[in-house]
Amino acid sequence: MYLKEELERRGVPALLKFEDGREVTAENWEERRLELVDILSREEYGYMPDEKFKVSAAEAAKPARDCAGKAVTERLTLTVSGSKGDFSFPLLICTPAKKPGGKCPLVLLINFRPDFPDKYLPAEEIIDRGVGVAMIYYNDIALDKNEWESGIAGMYPRPEYSWSKITMWAWAASRCMDYFETRNDIDFERVGVAGHSRLGKTALWCGANDTRFKYVFANNSGCSGDAITRCKRGETVEIIYRAFPFWFVPKYNEYAGREQDMPFDQHFVVAASAPRVVVCGAAEEDIWADPESQYLSCCAASQAWELLGEKGLIGVDRYPEPGDIFTKGKLGFFMRPHAHYFSRYDWNRYLDCFLI
Ligand code: GCU
Repeated sequence: MYLKEELERRGVPALLKFEDGREVTAENWEERRLELVDILSREEYGYMPDEKFKVSAAEAAKPARDCAGKAVTERLTLTVSGSKGDFSFPLLICTPAKKPGGKCPLVLLINFRPDFPDKYLPAEEIIDRGVGVAMIYYNDIALDKNEWESGIAGMYPRPEYSWSKITMWAWAASRCMDYFETRNDIDFERVGVAGHSRLGKTALWCGANDTRFKYVFANNSGCSGDAITRCKRGETVEIIYRAFPFWFVPKYNEYAGREQDMPFDQHFVVAASAPRVVVCGAAEEDIWADPESQYLSCCAASQAWELLGEKGLIGVDRYPEPGDIFTKGKLGFFMRPHAHYFSRYDWNRYLDCFLI
């Protein structure tokens, strides 16, 4: 394990031990994985409603040719039906007009804006690599505010449902996946979920909950995302909870200033998608997220892939430097020069992993 001494110094909890003290093996990994999801639900992000939803899609506009005719963009309205009634939100899907074998891989971006294209969504470059891209706008699901009336939050309110805005956004991505499964032009073995910053945290949490996403791309997700919380620089539990209590369940705040008492750390959320592909992107100047702590999470989480006989993180035994790209294993990490952003550089790193 890379940076083993540093992980020990920070007192990061063991990944490969059950809460009851049993050893984790390749045979019981799935049981441990579900335990990780349960711990993170209980302590940090909350639980998704425990029911089966039905989805249907309607055209919101006629499909249009895009990207010089290389792509087709569909604007849909997805309706999710559950015990509390129907809930609808817009879903955009842009796929290559020519799909070899009639199918294409697809990345679902949970985005900050409803615009298409958008500065975080370089559609033509993605299409040119043979990949489709879908997008939802997170405020269409539930507002990024400390209120519980909007969107799905109003239909499944707290405290009756113990969830958070991050869990609601992740839940919506899974409902998109329900819909993708009804189509015959998507390669289900290659569907990924991506997000930046708070939505990178969301992408990680979505991948942990929904194994149908075979790729998880967490860009600059940092605190309460891919960064080890213990002894982290920049943002802490206390700071993030004070500013964004609604991203979490109230229990998380008990660890403000008491990170050492957490029965988990963020390598759990990274490992909860093992042995699928997870790539964590950091940015050199993003001290708030803390690239060193982001890399440490990957070092610790890699044990899950290795336990299963897979290539985990193929990296180096030191903290990362700008320009480092460690994406040869199924757990990838890279550190882009410059600041917090979802850039084309980042997309290209994710697409490199997607297309091998
Ligand atoms: C704030 C927050 C971060 C978050 C970021 C974002 O800076 O402190 O945790 O990742 O917003 O989502 O842009």
